[in-house]
Amino acid sequence: MNLTLYVWRQNNSDDPGRVENYEARDISPDMSFLEMLDVVNERLIKNGKEPIAFDSDCREGICGMCGQVVNGTPHGPQKKTTVCQLHMRHFKDGDTIYIEPFRSRAFPVLRDLVVDRGAFDRIIQSGGYISVHTGGVPDGNAILIPKHDADTAMDAAECIGCGACVAACPNGSAMLFTAAKVSHLAALPQGRIEAARRVCVMTEEMLRLGFGNCSNHYECESVCPKGIKVKFIAKLNREYLKAQLPGSGGPK
Ligand code: SF4
Ligand code: FES
Repeated sequence: MNLTLYVWRQNNSDDPGRVENYEARDISPDMSFLEMLDVVNERLIKNGKEPIAFDSDCREGICGMCGQVVNGTPHGPQKKTTVCQLHMRHFKDGDTIYIEPFRSRAFPVLRDLVVDRGAFDRIIQSGGYISVHTGGVPDGNAILIPKHDADTAMDAAECIGCGACVAACPNGSAMLFTAAKVSHLAALPQGRIEAARRVCVMTEEMLRLGFGNCSNHYECESVCPKGIKVKFIAKLNREYLKAQLPGSGGPK
């Protein structure tokens, strides 16, 4: 199949950027979206031009490294699918495709489609962990966890930190991401000990880094490749309110 691409090109975060037009020729419907860009890049390199910069790592939907806005939607048109797992069979011969980076004040564009998502790392560093002594592997049955709690924790832990939720949100909010991390740990007894402090510092770090707040657009849930539900944002809000109570252990 042959396609027309309009791709955002930007040399660095100070460059105002521009859209450039490319023809993608002889693309197999079995290629992934990133493989299609690899083909375009090979041709650009052959012609002495700068290839389009984009992020990827696992290319199997688990690492959260890839992220592009395809035809206006973060990760493109396929529900619950990262752009590395989006296949060209979902497009038609002759289609025009618009490709842009994830846009948010907290995610500056580094080059073309590559953005700096270090702000997510800083939210995790602020409190997205449990403080335990490492050592021998504990017995699997030493702490029994009800099935419902284990399932909740696993559902939240599916977040791969891709940032699509931020790119889709009109407020540039990182609430879905932060809520997934807070809820994952808060659902388990190992995470309860620091739960009050964690929810306060992670939420405050999120706001300090320039992410907006949630005003119930649900765009985040709609584009999340892992199907993280907004119910976790409600959980984050409940945890935050609980942490304000005297004696909760949360920062005052
Ligand atoms: S909540 Fe979903 S969209 Fe947001 S970072 Fe996690 S996996 Fe990506
Ligand atoms: S490259 Fe790892 S999720 Fe897309």
